[in-house]
Amino acid sequence: MMGPKTPLLVSLLVALGVSSAAGGHYGYSMPGSPFNISRTDRGLQQVVLAATRSFNDRSNDAFLFKPSAIRRAQRQIVKGIRYIVDLDISRTVCRKRDHIDNLSQCDFQPKGRLHQTFQCHFEVWVIPWDNETKILVFLCQP
Ligand SMILES: *[C@@H]1O[C@H](CO)[C@@H](O)[C@H](O)[C@H]1NC(C)=O
Ligand SMILES: *[C@@H]1O[C@H](CO)[C@@H](O)[C@H](O)[C@H]1NC(C)=O
Ligand SMILES: *[C@@H]1O[C@H](CO)[C@@H](O)[C@H](O)[C@H]1NC(C)=O
Repeated sequence: MMGPKTPLLVSLLVALGVSSAAGGHYGYSMPGSPFNISRTDRGLQQVVLAATRSFNDRSNDAFLFKPSAIRRAQRQIVKGIRYIVDLDISRTVCRKRDHIDNLSQCDFQPKGRLHQTFQCHFEVWVIPWDNETKILVFLCQP
């Protein structure tokens, strides 16, 4: 019925030779190092939503997944805004075929056979003045 055994390895567009060296305490407007941002950041929530949608579109699972934890949330200013996120994404009880558009009504699977979490790393580049969002890296493993 489902094939969740293989890791979802999607690398959509690995462009942009940007160093991801951490550290440094630069001001917001200064191009440079990634810095931590709040889990409730609006821009972050939008890219997490976009990544979740992309995950669900690409998975061949019978169920929808949704974020269960954000382990890292960083932003970097590079000709736009780059988000660097480590996200746990877990199987819900909602079936894909039910075409749910708001995942907040989907509970996580209870402990048991269908309970599963992927650990994902993704990087998204948002270019506000071009109204463009590019998923640069999207790697998930069980
Ligand atoms: C950034 O967040 C990570 C975990 O989310 C934490 O380990 C790290 O210490 C934080 N760095 C700074 C500079 O606050
Ligand atoms: C989804 O539903 C919740 C409440 O059930 C609501 O707070 C949230 O704004 C909705 N999200 C969207 C994208 O409609
Ligand atoms: C950005 O693009 C989306 C879809 O492509 C569109 O719905 C939206 O109106 C655009 N926003 C701006 C500010 O151009």
